Amino acid sequence: MRFRARVPKWDNGAQCTTGKRDIEQTCGPTGIMRFISRLALFLQSTTYAMIGVTVTESASNNDRETPRSTDAIDALNRGQRSFVRLRRTTAEPAPPPGTPVTLPEISSDELMVVGVLGEDTFGKVLHVYDHSRREHVAVKQLSGPLSPIAEARFRRGALLPARLRHRGIIEIYGFGRWPGGDSYFVMELVRGIELSALIDQAPTLRERLPLLRHITACAEAIGCAHREHIIHRDIKPENVLINSRGHAVVIDWGIAKDLGTVEITGDSDLMRAFGDDPRHTVVGTVVGTPPYMPPEQARGEPVDERADVYALGALLLQVLTGVAPYAGDNALAVVQAVIDGPPPALSLLPPSLRPGLVAVIRQALARDREHRFPNGDALAKALHELAL
Ligand SMILES: Nc1ncnc2c1ncn2[C@@H]1O[C@H](COP(=O)(O)OP(=O)(O)OP(=O)(O)O)[C@@H](O)[C@H]1O
Ligand SMILES: [Mg+2]
Repeated sequence: MRFRARVPKWDNGAQCTTGKRDIEQTCGPTGIMRFISRLALFLQSTTYAMIGVTVTESASNNDRETPRSTDAIDALNRGQRSFVRLRRTTAEPAPPPGTPVTLPEISSDELMVVGVLGEDTFGKVLHVYDHSRREHVAVKQLSGPLSPIAEARFRRGALLPARLRHRGIIEIYGFGRWPGGDSYFVMELVRGIELSALIDQAPTLRERLPLLRHITACAEAIGCAHREHIIHRDIKPENVLINSRGHAVVIDWGIAKDLGTVEITGDSDLMRAFGDDPRHTVVGTVVGTPPYMPPEQARGEPVDERADVYALGALLLQVLTGVAPYAGDNALAVVQAVIDGPPPALSLLPPSLRPGLVAVIRQALARDREHRFPNGDALAKALHELAL
């Protein structure tokens, strides 16, 4: 019998759960669907329980930036390999929100690299064929030795989205380590195109307008994360992939944060000097990508769901104007511009736009977060009311 750790995603944008889904609730209670759903639930319950690395984050609403101390993190820091054990379980109800996830180890022996999907100073995203899954997957890896804290943070970038089930959130399959020691995690391969490329390929407003629905989809996906108190903090067009079925998938949860936990910081390996290309993620005291950051994030203050709302507003603005909300020669200049004043691109909004849409964008981009939509769901609702 082949055991697989994957929990299938239901193709239902409204669905958002942690852990296993209640299949009966998803499919309805009667007839053949009920039989199929019971069978699926049974199969799922017998194959899902795989024990790997579990990171339990301490529950605290304190936003102090101090390292977490848990057995699992300590184990990771000591370089201990995760382990996989398979066992049969009976069906259980979905775990309560915030329950730590368990991801299996995926052996590098099973992986065959097909190509490179993305690359930066810290690592790569590879297109890989996974022999055990018999499917193409994407593998994100760190390059070179990093501090234990940086590596734990890398793993958190997989563990946080792994807690979420939504077709608009990248699905994470497991962790591994290449023979050379570099860590990786394996995720679903999105065959598609970055939203940034779609915007660039659409020179006129008329061509870009159909892209607005992807921002609504992102707001729904991020709303799902917000319900679990997870914020992304790096929403930008490069971190949204449009898959072959035309659905938006939010990737790159590398600086996501669980608002219910204390945060790891001080990871000098992940520090990037200001002066880098402002479109790149900056990690350090300020985290995020400058043109899409709200003022409080640019000032290095603690942020909440409303920072993601602002970034989604910046995406709306970029779709409608065709340009990023701020431009600048370097990241520091953009950070300063964000702190000093509203996005220059607001003045480029076409006068023909519906006032309701302009009002939503202005509210999402409010400089005072008290005036923004409280979370992704509220923004998605406002966009739905505009039939977007
Ligand atoms: N699951 C995936 N399927 C297909 N392509 C992917 C996937 N994940 C990432 N990519 C491609 O690789 C690029 C880089 O990935 P990602 O955004 O995760 O890393 P990054 O931006 O280099 O990392 P970081 O911002 O954390 O330094 C993406 O913009 C996308 O084009
Ligand atoms: Mg990215």
